[in-house]
Formats: sequence, C-alpha cells, structure tokens
Amino acid sequence: MIHQLVELGYLIAVILFIIGLKQLSSPRTARKGNLLAATGMGIAILVTLILPLESGANNYLLIALGIAIGSVIGWIAARKVKMTAMPQMVSIFNGLGGACAVAISLVELVGYQATFESGGAVFAGVHLTALMAMFVGGVAFTGSMLAYGKLEGLIDDRKVRIPQPTVVNLVLLLSILAGIGYKLAMPAEPLTWVIAIMVVSLIYGITFVIPIGGADMPVVISLLNAFTGVAAALAGLVYDNHVMLVGGILVGSSGTILTVLMCEAMNRSLLNVIIGGFGSTGKAAAQSGDQVAKEITLMDAAILLSYSNSVIIVPGYGMAVAQAQKVCHELEMLLEDKGVSVRYAIHPVAGRMPGHMNVLLAEADVSYDKLLDLDDANKALADADVVIIVGANDVVNPSAKTDPGSPIYGMPILDVLQAKHTIVLKRSMSPGYAGIQNPLFFHEKNRMLFGDAKDSLSKLVSEIKTLG
Ligand code: TAP
Repeated sequence: MIHQLVELGYLIAVILFIIGLKQLSSPRTARKGNLLAATGMGIAILVTLILPLESGANNYLLIALGIAIGSVIGWIAARKVKMTAMPQMVSIFNGLGGACAVAISLVELVGYQATFESGGAVFAGVHLTALMAMFVGGVAFTGSMLAYGKLEGLIDDRKVRIPQPTVVNLVLLLSILAGIGYKLAMPAEPLTWVIAIMVVSLIYGITFVIPIGGADMPVVISLLNAFTGVAAALAGLVYDNHVMLVGGILVGSSGTILTVLMCEAMNRSLLNVIIGGFGSTGKAAAQSGDQVAKEITLMDAAILLSYSNSVIIVPGYGMAVAQAQKVCHELEMLLEDKGVSVRYAIHPVAGRMPGHMNVLLAEADVSYDKLLDLDDANKALADADVVIIVGANDVVNPSAKTDPGSPIYGMPILDVLQAKHTIVLKRSMSPGYAGIQNPLFFHEKNRMLFGDAKDSLSKLVSEIKTLG
C-alpha cells in the first residue's frame, strides 16, 4: 500500500515537473510554471519520507535536520540574491546536485563492495550506473564550484591556468574511463579503486573548467547543469527511483538544449567553447588608437528622442547592474505619449544568463509585444531613428561582423549602425564581458552618454519632460 502511494505521488510530481517546464518557456506563464514544478518537488519529497515506514527503520531526525538546514539556507539565499548574481547561485545549486549524486553513489558502491568481498555479485549494469553517477556528479560538483568562483570574481581567469589543458583533460578523462572499466571487470578489487575514480573525477571537474573563461562561462554553467541532471538520472537508476530518474532526464535534456542554443547565439561550437579558452587566451582587444568617442548632452539627447518616429532600446548587462529597467519603461511611456514608437531589441545572450533581459523588463511591466528578438530587431533597426544602448556592449559590437581577428567574430549581433543615430549609455570606455574594444563607440553615428544607466535615464526623462 505504501509503495503504491509513493509511486502515485511520484507520478503526480513528474506530471507537475513537465507542465511546469513547459510553462517556463514563456514569461507570461513562467512564475506559475516554477510554482507547479516546486509543488511537484515538494510532493516527491513528502512521499519519499513515508517510504521508510515500509521497512520500519528510519532516520527521520537526521532527515528533518537536513531539510531544516537546507531550507533555511535556500530561503535566505533566494531572497538575498541579486538578479546579476543569479548565475552564481545556479552554479552553487548545480554543484550541490552533483555532490548529492557523488554521496548517493558512494554509499551504494560501499554496499556493493561488501557484497563483492563476501563472494556475492551485483548486476554489472547497476555497478556501471553507480560508477558513472559518481564520475558525472563529481565533475559537476567541482566544475560548478570553480565556475562560481570565476563568476564571483574570486578566481581570476587570466591568472589561474594549467599548461596544455586539452592534453591534461584527455589524460584524466581516459584514466577515469579506464578505472571504471577495470573496476567493472574486477569487482572484488579494493574500494581504493572507487575512491581513486572519485578523486580523479573531482580533479577533472576543475581542469575541465579552468581553461574556459570570459563570455563562455554561462555556456559552461548550462553544460554543468546538464551534467548534474545526468548524474541525478543515473542516481535515480541506481535507487530505482522514478521521480529522480525523470527529474534528472528533464534537467539533463533542458540543460543540453540551452547549451546548444547559447552556442548557436554566439556562433560557436561546443567543442570550441570547451577547448577555445575564449576570454582568457583570446586575441588582444582591437585598439582604439587615437580615435575619439563623441559625447552627447542630456538636452541634445532629449531633443533627438522627442523628435523621432521610432526609437529602439537595446538593454544589456549594464542595465541589470544599474537596475535601470523601471526607468527604461518610464522613458518608453513618456516617448509613446509624444507619439514616438518605442521597442526593445533583445539579443539572446545579452546580460549574464539566458532570458536575463526579458525577466528584468517583465519585472518593470514592459509589454512582451514590445520585445523584438534578434532577427526581428535587425529588420526593425533599419527604420529606427535612434537606438539607445543601455549598458550593452558585446552584443552590439560591429567587430563581430567586420574583424575576422576578433574573438567574437561570427557572433550574431544587433546591427545598430543601420539606424540613423545611436546613443550608448555606460559609465566609461571599459570593454564588456568579452574584454574587447567596441568600434561602435567611435563611429560617426554614435554618441556616448556617460554615467550610471539608471541615473542617466532618470535625468533624460526629466529633460524630456521639461521640453513639454
Ligand atoms: P557586456 O558586453 O558585458 O557589457 C556590459 C556593459 O555595461 C559594460 O561595457 C559596462 O561598461 C556597462 N555597465 C556596467 N555597469 C553599468 C552601469 N551601472 N550603468 C551603465 N553601464 C554599465 O554586456 P552585453 O552586451 O549584455 O553582452 C553580454 C556578454 O555576456 C556577451 O559577451 C555574451 O557573449 C556573454 N554571454 C552571455 C550569455 C547569456 S546567456 N546572457 C551567455 C554566454 C555569454 P562600463 O563599465 O563602462 O559602465
């Protein structure tokens, strides 16, 4: 009876995961989708808790302690995290998922070892699954922790390096696979083999992420997310736990799809991201030479915008840092009142995580109909009078089209120079995440409005109001 109840709970949880995931694909339904999937996870945890009643033995005190500590930390972290630090939080969550898979498989493998040493046998498929869960989970754990350190600025991409990373990684990967093969063939060999496979997997997670840096980090996080899903699915197989299996497969497949989409948006292959060392070994920035970027006054910007027919706003990472989304919306409404058409051009990798800009603009009540994706935006830009670039840099860098030596060459960009005028809002001439100079700043069509984006936009709004 208990078993049937648990399976029914798992079935409901899995259905909620799938509906929730589907709803996450649109900003309109994402909040509800998240809640549904979380409810599914809550149900899965609750019904799992009644499982031990079947055998009589339980560890409820320890479980309650674990849930209490985890919930408090998770609750505080989720409330405190800033939108700009979301990728770091995702990294930590990924890493802990991987660590769980390692812990689960280690417990199981220790159990199998006792069976092997007493002359018993474990089905080779189950043994292999546990070893693979340990390997993939170990890579996801240390890789994600290193990714967290890099994103948080605790580890400097350019300083922490290993010589010949591709060779080192290949040797480590082959050693792990050979170790797994040997332990499968000789199951009675001591547990030291299992520990060695675990340690080398943990090291491989670090050496795998070390060469990757700069703008490629979000791709790596998504890839590690997929690894964590695979590790959880494998652990689900080991435990014959259906909800863990399906949940892991959903995370693994959605993480893989996201990784592929991000690579496509940057026009890079996954292999190139993994071994390319983009951002850490990329070619030096294009020199600005003695070119001068021209500035625009608030008054001139206000007049230019007020007398336009069509304005396109390009948000980027700087808008998230400045939390300028609400004042962007205010500017949009003000201009629309004056009969100016205002839309937003969203590059798929603007910001630091997928959908970063969409989430921020939705938070500021910007209508979804006003958001143009890359293709539509590039068509609309030709008819725009003014493009306001709010804290974006790499995603509007024309070098991606014109300079074959640039590390971002081939990346699809928002071709803002098609418009009559561009205004870039940023604090200084510093480069964006890819660490390269942007020739747009020196183009004759462009003017710079230096300052914090929120501050500049607020002043611009006041200036436009004074124009009446
Ligand atoms: P970036 O190229 O990183 O440029 C952001 C700009 O914002 C900086 O140049 C910075 O200049 C400015 N800024 C920072 N704080 C500001 C503030 N308070 N007020 C005004 N400006 C501020 O951003 P992007 O154009 O959005 O490009 C995203 C980058 O991330 C790309 O390289 C992309 O490939 C990479 N990436 C993203 C993803 C996803 S999924 N989003 C995935 C992979 C890679 P100042 O310091 O001078 O102000």
